[in-house]
Amino acid sequence: MHTRAAALILCALFAAPFAVSQQPAPPKQPAPQQPADRQATNDRIEASILEKIKGHEKEPAEQVFKNIKINPHIMNFGYSHALGVTCTHCHVETDFSSDDKRPKRAAREMAVMHHSINDQLRKMENLEQKGDKRNINCGVCHRGAIDPNAKSN
Ligand code: HEC
Ligand code: HEC
Repeated sequence: MHTRAAALILCALFAAPFAVSQQPAPPKQPAPQQPADRQATNDRIEASILEKIKGHEKEPAEQVFKNIKINPHIMNFGYSHALGVTCTHCHVETDFSSDDKRPKRAAREMAVMHHSINDQLRKMENLEQKGDKRNINCGVCHRGAIDPNAKSN
């Protein structure tokens, strides 16, 4: 199955919102940007990427982009939104295909974990919800924070 290139980016930006606790997370590294600034940054980056792939929006993501290793559906969960970061937390802004940033590589590993949790959920026999409804995504743990544990501590 192919994810359309434009859909990949749009989904990365506009994933379904989830409840975010009002309690501010203790900042980990540099103080996080305010949500409005973050959105503006992500919007600007999105626009520049859409401009670059103009005319190829309908092609499969694997063809339009250079370095798609895992199922491109991973971007459907809105990584930026789930972690409360801008695209550049994971990406080198001048080369989105680069794997230089550790968080990008970590995100691939997280995607693998996330799929295996969903596989386990589907195998369970004593839940009321139907198998295909038992899905978690990045936001279930992260809830808008880089470190999911930061909120409970
Ligand atoms: C938490 C980390 C993370 C965040 C935040 C993130 N991405 Fe990604 N992105 C990835 C990973 C991982 C891949 C590689 C997916 C793969 O290997 O299939 C990727 C791939 C891409 C690619 C394909 C690059 C190529 O040529 O191979 C584009 C374009 C992209 N992301 C755009 C964005 C945009 C725009 C944002 C901000 C709205 C964003 N990403 C936020 C982790 C992230
Ligand atoms: C089961 C809970 C859980 C799920 C689901 C989950 N994560 Fe994580 N994630 C964690 C924990 C715990 C850490 C470690 C936090 C730390 O660095 O101290 C982490 C760390 C990360 C980091 C490293 C952040 C950094 O800057 O060091 C990235 C990137 C990340 N997760 C992305 C994702 C993405 C993308 C998804 C969905 C595909 C995802 N996570 C799903 C629990 C989860």
